[in-house]
Amino acid sequence: MTDIHCHILPGVDDGAENMDEAVAMARMAWESGVRTIIATPHCNLPGEAGNYRSGAMTRRFNTLKKAVRDAGIDLEILPGAEVLCTPNVPQLLDEKKLIPLAGSRYLLVEFFFDEHLDAIDQLLEQITERGLVPVIAHPERYEAVQQAPHAVARWFHSGYVIQLNKGSILGRLGRRAQWCAEWLLDRGLAHTVASDAHSDQYRTPHMDQLRRTLEDRCGSAYCNILLRINPDRIAHDRPLLAPDEP
Ligand SMILES: [Fe+2]
Repeated sequence: MTDIHCHILPGVDDGAENMDEAVAMARMAWESGVRTIIATPHCNLPGEAGNYRSGAMTRRFNTLKKAVRDAGIDLEILPGAEVLCTPNVPQLLDEKKLIPLAGSRYLLVEFFFDEHLDAIDQLLEQITERGLVPVIAHPERYEAVQQAPHAVARWFHSGYVIQLNKGSILGRLGRRAQWCAEWLLDRGLAHTVASDAHSDQYRTPHMDQLRRTLEDRCGSAYCNILLRINPDRIAHDRPLLAPDEP
């Protein structure tokens, strides 16, 4: 499996606190069948995390890769970020300050949970105009989507990538998020599911229970697209599969 959303880079956000925890997360992911993780620290989070593209960030990614390799874990770690979309994001893109997923066309984006649909639409269009494909992180957690999940169908058919969270599907992020995630899965309106892991204790990168739950609910073909095929295609900058064309 490939996990495209994981706060494993230590000491830069509310994810792994230190390298020991990051290595424990890597081992846990590997033991559950994950072979590639894109490390996605929070980026552009006002007052909390900048984490824009820089030489220091590149060194942090490389230090994590080396620590995982030195621990004997055969897990590929690729650079990325989870970008909070605020009105300054177009300018940050023009200044090349944002880190796409594994150097691809795909940019992982999140929004304030109470953001209005109009504002989300406008930011998604501004990102697309700059030649990137937005990967919308956990839409099932946004209030506007929980009130009107058809918005996600519109995004899906507009060419945006829909990424659901493991925790939503397993019911750990509230009943509304779970209901909304299931509504989207049952209609084939998700491209991938990721861990959004923050720790080796809670919100972890272990994917076994998620894989079994998705196989039961969606069947093995769609589960394979969600956890293997599409996240691997994102990591390799290739177009994604829709669930009806496995
Ligand atoms: Fe996240």
